[in-house]
Amino acid sequence: MALLNKDGSRLDGRGVTDLRPLKITAGVLNRAAGSCLIEWGRNKVLAAVYGPHEVFPKHLTNPRRALINARYIMAPFSSQEEHGRSGPNRRSIEISKVARHVFENVVFTERFPKTMIDVHMEVLQSDGGTRVSAITAASVALADAGIPMRDLVCGVSVGRVDGKLVVDLDKYEDNLGESDVPVVISPRTKELLLFQLDGLLSKKEVSEGLDMIFEAANVIREKQVQALADKFKDVDSGDLQ
Ligand code: CDP
Repeated sequence: MALLNKDGSRLDGRGVTDLRPLKITAGVLNRAAGSCLIEWGRNKVLAAVYGPHEVFPKHLTNPRRALINARYIMAPFSSQEEHGRSGPNRRSIEISKVARHVFENVVFTERFPKTMIDVHMEVLQSDGGTRVSAITAASVALADAGIPMRDLVCGVSVGRVDGKLVVDLDKYEDNLGESDVPVVISPRTKELLLFQLDGLLSKKEVSEGLDMIFEAANVIREKQVQALADKFKDVDSGDLQ
């Protein structure tokens, strides 16, 4: 079954480099230290940050830095496949782990020794690209919580469908396409913080795909900064760049 129209556009009408509609809102929860709701295409992910707080269980305490406790979970009503199921599974444990690695690399954990920072990512509705949506939202939630970081990181996927590279794959393109590469980057340092490859891509395609990711990241970054600027209206958005 074709995933591209005859004119080269995607089934939802997007061009190969177009992102799905993206809305980011910071500070949506009263009880969390920081929070963010991301609505990206049909994805809806809520991120909440608690801490830094005392480590539990205590024996895990690191005297030199804060621990990042990242938890990605799909709500039982978030998709057809997860329908009726709840609780962690192999996939959510893997995504929580890679998200933890991302934030261990950007948060100045050494400033909060002997503590733990919880980063919860709850997928309320899913349509492909939830791990990158969740990490993008969590980055805003961490900033909303005032946690010092090297950068606001953002994620997006690239992949090959019907022989063409496309950005921001939806579930259909992700499941039926030839490959899917979720990537998280630090736009400031140009570092790759997450790179997972499902399927096959040539070296040239990886390089072209990364160029597309860095281009798309400009749009995502702008929305993250705007969300924080809206939350902290009295702060000049230039200070957040
Ligand atoms: O969401 P992401 O692309 O990061 O992860 P994936 O494992 O590549 O899954 C792609 C999509 O398949 C998800 O966004 C969900 O819409 C769907 N999915 C699901 O409904 N239930 C699962 N257990 C796994 C994936």
